[in-house]
Amino acid sequence: MSGYLHGSDRETSRLFEQAAYLRQWFAPHWTLPDSGTVLEVGCGVGAQTAWLLEQHPALQFHCIDANPDQIEIARTTLQPFVAQGRATIDCLDVVDIAPNHQFDGALFIWVLEHVPDALEALVASGRALKPGAGICCTEVLNSSFHHCPASQPLTHYWEQFNELQRHLGGDPDVGSRLPALLAEAGFREIQVQPVSLFFSDHHPDARREFFSYWSTLLASAAPGLQEAGKIGGAELSEMVAACAELGSRAGSVLSYTAMVASARIQ
Ligand SMILES: C[S@@+](CC[C@H](N)C(=O)[O-])C[C@H]1O[C@@H](n2cnc3c(N)ncnc32)[C@H](O)[C@@H]1O
Repeated sequence: MSGYLHGSDRETSRLFEQAAYLRQWFAPHWTLPDSGTVLEVGCGVGAQTAWLLEQHPALQFHCIDANPDQIEIARTTLQPFVAQGRATIDCLDVVDIAPNHQFDGALFIWVLEHVPDALEALVASGRALKPGAGICCTEVLNSSFHHCPASQPLTHYWEQFNELQRHLGGDPDVGSRLPALLAEAGFREIQVQPVSLFFSDHHPDARREFFSYWSTLLASAAPGLQEAGKIGGAELSEMVAACAELGSRAGSVLSYTAMVASARIQ
């Protein structure tokens, strides 16, 4: 596991909020098996998992995450499902999954951007799947981010944010590599769904809400950015102020595209 970009002390609550907010756009594209056990890689605090378990009563989840702090919280979040025998939880790096072809599906949500070798992670997951089982990955494509009118503090912070992720061994554009990575990892029937979000005057409240989410997402990397000397306190405040101003400004625009890819292991 490479260093984790989002290091603020609000990370637990941010992951719960993010899971609840983003699923309106992404969940419709998630492909899961009708029954059996899904391997969820990088479950974080289990926020998305709990919702998925409620939505899919015929599924069980085996959840792994390399971060012991996240896993400890996931154990609490998922305790009712663990008690029902519908969830198991393990503190494990994706590359250490047993290659015993036991799972009926695999799910990655905002995980591959953080791993040093996304191909190795997908190969390891493929070896844990039953032949023909599906995988579904939702990943970032940070170079797609566009905002208008251009804000220098926001642009500068965003550049530093992405540079830090690369420095930590991650890939802020891993979404664009998903089809090639899945093919190289031995997956077939690859389908890619770009999910484009666009906020402007046509829905001012939704725009304000997304700029607010964006500000929180970027601020979650502030401790690491400050430790690496990439930003100071002023740059954080200026980015937050820019997002607040753009969020309520007539004529402002924000667009971002993330990628959802599904495939089957041979
Ligand atoms: C942005 S969080 C996403 C959490 C969750 N999937 C969600 O959508 O709320 C990414 C998670 O991936 C985990 N992670 C990163 N690298 C990993 C690896 N190599 N193996 C397992 N988990 C990893 C991190 O610890 C973190 O909890």
